Amino acid sequence: MANVVVVGAQWGDEGKGKIVDWLSERADVVARFQGGHNAGHTLVIDGTIYKLNALPSGVVRGGKLSVIGNGVVLDPWHLVKEIETIRGQGVEVTPETLMVAENTPLILPFHGELDRAREGQNAMAKIGTTGRGIGPCYEDKVGRRVIRVADLADDATLELRVDRALVHHNALRAGLGLPEIDRDALLASLREIAPEILKYAAPVWKVLNEKRRAGNRILFEGAQGALLDIDFGTYPFVASSNTIAGQAATGTGIGPGSIDFVLGIVKAYTTRVGEGPFPTELDDADGERLGTRGREFGTVTGRKRRCGWFDAVLVRQTCATSGMNGIALTKLDVLDGFETLKVCVGYELDGERLDHLPTAADQQARCTPVYEELPGWQESTEGARSWADLPANAIKYVRRVEELIDCPVALLSTSPERDDTILVTDPFAD
Ligand code: GDP
Ligand code: IMO
Ligand code: MG
Repeated sequence: MANVVVVGAQWGDEGKGKIVDWLSERADVVARFQGGHNAGHTLVIDGTIYKLNALPSGVVRGGKLSVIGNGVVLDPWHLVKEIETIRGQGVEVTPETLMVAENTPLILPFHGELDRAREGQNAMAKIGTTGRGIGPCYEDKVGRRVIRVADLADDATLELRVDRALVHHNALRAGLGLPEIDRDALLASLREIAPEILKYAAPVWKVLNEKRRAGNRILFEGAQGALLDIDFGTYPFVASSNTIAGQAATGTGIGPGSIDFVLGIVKAYTTRVGEGPFPTELDDADGERLGTRGREFGTVTGRKRRCGWFDAVLVRQTCATSGMNGIALTKLDVLDGFETLKVCVGYELDGERLDHLPTAADQQARCTPVYEELPGWQESTEGARSWADLPANAIKYVRRVEELIDCPVALLSTSPERDDTILVTDPFAD
């Protein structure tokens, strides 16, 4: 298999960064295809922690090409800062190792202001966003008024684009009580940052197609998770992009036939940050225990993540919408020491049993989980690197998860460290 897509199968933070970093040893190119710096991907390599938002997780391994595709929304100032930070950790980033698609939309300061103003305005309408302007930038992309990387190269075009955006945004801002945007200051800061971004700009679609034809292996790194997908997620409590595997093609400019394996990253329990329905959420000692053992605090905002039991109904659903060929089951070690583990195998709604999450928001909010109980294990799985190191009940849990979601485990992760990973099936294998 040449090209692998990695996507989150729940509400994000499943451990995509760790798995992408681990898999990137086998890849030549690592490409982001959606989302922005709302993502927080954590890598731990020999005790050193790397936190990435916009940069692909392959950047840390030397000798790989990192790509930011057109499906991403990019904050140019954040990117420059992130590159500086990672350089400070000894990672090399050059125009030879990083490419940004010329048709990538730019997140500007007024996107973040709009995001935060809306979130602060009305508690009823609050999504619990990261406040980084992701949603407003995607709105501008679809509204055909966004400024793209290529626009930075020509001053006349840049002015035209800025004016088009300001007509819309100044009207919006007036309604929200925000001051008018200072056109000259915005243009000046865009002109200043332009060379810092343009040096990475490239026709990514062309480069990736050439790489693919030359037999290079491409690893596509998703952000967020399938339940935050703009179409298939728990709308409106979602991100603003398609987060499912199909987006890897449109978000970089390769054909869907170039995708050989889709790997879903699945946490052995469930977490979510922000508002929205969460049928298996726990607000008891078990939930606290998952949060504490799993260190469930958001990488981007530091918010406490909501925790709950594994929901097999949701993951079976996301395995279908992304066409998963296998999953990486992460954070199995966090379940060590529970007497009994619960897994959601269906929902009850108005006296009926459901085998999927309904689409209507009111129904999603009222679904109650039907649980199956499985025996826990008292032994430690932390740092296990082979099946033989796993207790029998942990293996039973993994096997039951596979059955319930109808998708095999390709990888298992047992700690934040890169090498504490068990390979079952190599997604890149022919
Ligand atoms: P991502 O957004 O999907 O890349 O995930 P995050 O990095 O936001 O959150 C996952 C957290 O779990 C990070 O702190 C990882 O270091 C950590 N992690 C990843 N895999 C494992 C694992 O198998 N066990 C434990 N205990 N932690 C893990
Ligand atoms: P990674 O890639 C978890 C959530 C936010 C909020 C909703 C919309 O680290 O898994 P946004 O700022 O995108 O408009 O917020 O989506 N969210 C994430 N939750 N992990 C993420 O990324 C997320 N990115 C966005 O908390 O509920
Ligand atoms: Mg994260």
